[in-house]
Amino acid sequence: MLGVFEPVSLGPLTARNRLVRSATWLGLASPGGAVTDALVERYRELGAGGVGTVITGYAAVSLGGRQMPRMLGIHDDELVPGLTRIAAAIRAEGALAGIQLVHAGGQTQASWLQGGTPVAPSFLEHPQFPEVPRQLTLEEIVKLVADFGQAARRAREAGFDFLQLHGAHGYLINQFLSPGTNHRTDRYGGGLRMRFRFLQEVLASVQGAVGPEYPVAIKLNGADYVAGGLDAADAEQVAEWLGMRGLCFIEVSGGTPGSGSEGPARTQIIPEENEAYFSDSAAAIKHRVPCPVALVGGVRSLETVERLLMENRADLFSLSRPLIWEPDLPRRWQAGDRSPAKCVSCNGCFGPGVKGEGVRCVVRDAELGNGAG
Ligand SMILES: Cc1cc2nc3c(=O)[nH]c(=O)nc-3n(C[C@H](O)[C@H](O)[C@H](O)COP(=O)(O)O)c2cc1C
Repeated sequence: MLGVFEPVSLGPLTARNRLVRSATWLGLASPGGAVTDALVERYRELGAGGVGTVITGYAAVSLGGRQMPRMLGIHDDELVPGLTRIAAAIRAEGALAGIQLVHAGGQTQASWLQGGTPVAPSFLEHPQFPEVPRQLTLEEIVKLVADFGQAARRAREAGFDFLQLHGAHGYLINQFLSPGTNHRTDRYGGGLRMRFRFLQEVLASVQGAVGPEYPVAIKLNGADYVAGGLDAADAEQVAEWLGMRGLCFIEVSGGTPGSGSEGPARTQIIPEENEAYFSDSAAAIKHRVPCPVALVGGVRSLETVERLLMENRADLFSLSRPLIWEPDLPRRWQAGDRSPAKCVSCNGCFGPGVKGEGVRCVVRDAELGNGAG
């Protein structure tokens, strides 16, 4: 019997259990993207909470790829010593440490780029884009591919066990994959193989920078749930191509900011049958790839995790919002308290982050009488 709390191989790595803290922006980096003491403490707390693997919030590979206030940066060698502190804090608590690399593409706004213009595969108005982005030139694409490679080198230098490319949620890699946001007529646009080219080159750049032994993962949409976006058949084909390229695991998510109620972080997932809302996508991808598959989105109870594991629908189970309220949820479950996550999936945790105060659970605060302060 495969146990949730038994060690599991992720390529050359071994995680102490099958639970993963999915990448979660905490809004606690400095305005320039540097690591702060508060951020290190949050990661130490997550590691101590018993989860097997911790993936940092998204870190921008270049200044033009930044998004939310106070997100992490990995665009400069000067940021490496701070990132080293996060990797060390997680690893000291016995969890694997991964860092997520992102370029937001058109899903950002000039004010978050200190006046720069958002860039995207194509110049178009789109529900995912807060502003109309500028279309990337071929020279800029080459530079971005190199930026991902440099960021990967920094991830390795900072001591992370692995890195994860953010290929989901409508960010730049996803924008290239999706026919809805990629209208290019050069070698980066057209059929799926052409739309896959950017990701293929990013992966080659990253693997070239860190060497073939360094583990690389990806978070991928099983579908975009946006009119004209990446559909399930194309997403499964992309996963299959990625599976041939030696990834340590693929994390399956879905949706974009343009997906309405079908976005990545859905609300109203109580009752239990609404849990794990991307499990069909994860199962479909799992049957086409040789590497482990992580399922994210609405995982709330140990019963659901055990059932999906027994049904062979996923190998790893990722949590984001539940660990904002209860960073020690894995330890609690392992100790025998099987009650579901307290998280009510209201997405109130984004609010304080957007205000620059750091992401935190406002429902827990209210229960503890802490107010919103
Ligand atoms: C506050 C917040 C920040 C997030 N930041 C990221 C991020 O940096 N990268 C990412 O891939 N997903 C991010 N997500 C999405 C989560 O990783 C996850 O895919 C989603 O919340 C569904 O999982 P859950 O139901 O366990 O919360 C974020 C979600 C929340 C609530």
